[in-house]
Amino acid sequence: MSQKNIRNFCIIAHIDHGKSTLADRLLELTKTVEDRKMKNQLLDQMDLERERGITIKLQPVKMEYNIKIPNSKFQIPNKSQTYNDQNSKYVLNLIDTPGHVDFSYEVSRSLAAVEGAVLLVDATQGIQAQTLANLYLALEQDLVIIPVINKIDMPNAMVGEVTKEISDLIGVEEKEIIKISAKTGENVERVLEEIIEKIPAPKGDINKQARALVFDSYFDSYKGVVAQVRIVDGVINKNSEIYFLKTKTKSEIIELGIMKPQLEKTDCLEAGDIGYIATGLKEVDKCRVGDTITKLKVHKVIESKVDDENIAENKIEPLPGYKEVKPTVFASIYPVEGDDYPELKDALEKLKLNDASLSFEVESSVALGRGFRCGFLGMLHLEIISERLSREYDMNLVITTPSVSYQIKKRDGEELTIFSPADMPDPSVIEKIKEPWVKLEIVLPKDRMGAVMRLAESSRAIYKKTDYLSQNRVILEYEAPLINIIVDFYDNLKSVSSGFASMNYELLAFREWDLVKLDILVAGEKVEAFSKIVPKDESYSEGKKVVAKLKNIIPRQNFAVALQAVISSKIIARETIRPFRKDVTAKLYGGDVSRKRKLLEKQKKGKKKMKSFGKVEIPQEAFLSVLKK
Ligand code: GTP
Repeated sequence: MSQKNIRNFCIIAHIDHGKSTLADRLLELTKTVEDRKMKNQLLDQMDLERERGITIKLQPVKMEYNIKIPNSKFQIPNKSQTYNDQNSKYVLNLIDTPGHVDFSYEVSRSLAAVEGAVLLVDATQGIQAQTLANLYLALEQDLVIIPVINKIDMPNAMVGEVTKEISDLIGVEEKEIIKISAKTGENVERVLEEIIEKIPAPKGDINKQARALVFDSYFDSYKGVVAQVRIVDGVINKNSEIYFLKTKTKSEIIELGIMKPQLEKTDCLEAGDIGYIATGLKEVDKCRVGDTITKLKVHKVIESKVDDENIAENKIEPLPGYKEVKPTVFASIYPVEGDDYPELKDALEKLKLNDASLSFEVESSVALGRGFRCGFLGMLHLEIISERLSREYDMNLVITTPSVSYQIKKRDGEELTIFSPADMPDPSVIEKIKEPWVKLEIVLPKDRMGAVMRLAESSRAIYKKTDYLSQNRVILEYEAPLINIIVDFYDNLKSVSSGFASMNYELLAFREWDLVKLDILVAGEKVEAFSKIVPKDESYSEGKKVVAKLKNIIPRQNFAVALQAVISSKIIARETIRPFRKDVTAKLYGGDVSRKRKLLEKQKKGKKKMKSFGKVEIPQEAFLSVLKK
């Protein structure tokens, strides 16, 4: 298909504003998926995505559409495109992207592979924090924006107000904003037409040396590493030999083609196309997102040795790649049973093949044995990885209290970065500690400002400014320490705003703060998995809170258990968990022995999932609870 009939686009939106539902309607309208195979949220292919109703992985799909133009000729803003054909056939490549802030790097990658974005806003919610964040990303890439209001079928839709908000925000006329219901399909065809009319066709040069941008990759046990690519210039065909410019890796092509969304083989991919290239490579590291794939001229390879100079000689300019994503949240993962260590290693390696943003390295601890220190993009990412480990790999795990990274300067001049409070040097040798701070944006109704501001202040956030989205809705900007934002800030924000506020954050810098390490002793033994780094002036109240909380979470044992909070070897708070035993069965007076036994067995089974620290068994949820307010 000639490039002028191709449109590459994304749908960007705040979480739950209806991206996947709109994608379903587009798939139906373009008859990409047979009716009998159609199911809701078709592009969310992972079980976890479907269960939770969230998109985690980006997913490309190719659609075809015959536009029916009522008046035989219309001119579109991009002057090179004029249609006088009443029934032109178009290829529409959609990349479906996740909406949650943890996965915004997936959004930015997708945006670099397309020319336009449908900006979808829920008519009952209006513009929200991720609407803004994703819009800014799209504008940075110079994408053409098609504004669409969704859910107009809902009784509480505020179509007029939301139209005004969008028009003010992006400076379009109100009549240009399409109002749809992705659920009923009302007006969705109009979205397709606008995509064709307004989004520019790709402008690559088909006669140039091939250049393809890798925007995603995954591992398939039969096809090896599969790269998802946007061909920018030239042609890659199934017999081409390819070369990754950044990793200097040569590869054959096992197969190439397009996503519908299932893979469909083709003979070649040309400038403007979005497709996949299966490489047969065994290491995902060789095919990094953001890399440029080009073609190797066969005569430039001498005895399977790639001649880099010759590649350079071709003067192939690498495509602008992506910023590498860095993990922000760290936690250690240990198997409950030490014997399961090799299985855990294997499982993490397999997950990493399809999720390059997961990082891990071997770690060992006296109390926990051998395990891994892992880096995540945020708490949802951590939660998803741990859920996949237990579901897909049947792992029984201890995950330590999550933490951010800290930069420490010691008095002797040495500088180090630690990823776990357990690694913090003795306070006497520390000159200063820096922690990561973020820029935080909160979108909310004006009448909730008081409550939200109080919440922000209690999280050490520093107020920056207020912008008005409309008469009744504002954007508050803060700077805040990441550690206070990642855990339960979002839940608290939802509760103080009765669900009306949304937030987004991005990393700013590391900043100095007076921080100390809080340790927890359980029955006289330090449990490093509970250690956390806290502001000095909050350390006493934090210590009290943590032991009080743990008292309610750690089950009674058959002896009294002391819980102590310690700062610089000074005990600052203490609680005692009283011994139990009669408790579980106490209420069963009388002689029902079998019921009694059942209860005791149940209790034993529940315990099986726990890890012993010294003599005390601690359930998994205790580790996260330490961080929560
Ligand atoms: P993420 O992938 O998690 O970002 O969500 P999403 O933007 O893909 O939203 P999704 O399509 O999953 O829709 C969220 C909810 O809104 C679902 O329950 C949909 O059924 C519902 N929904 C989507 N569009 C409409 C609509 O036009 N009208 C109504 N009434 N409900 C809609």
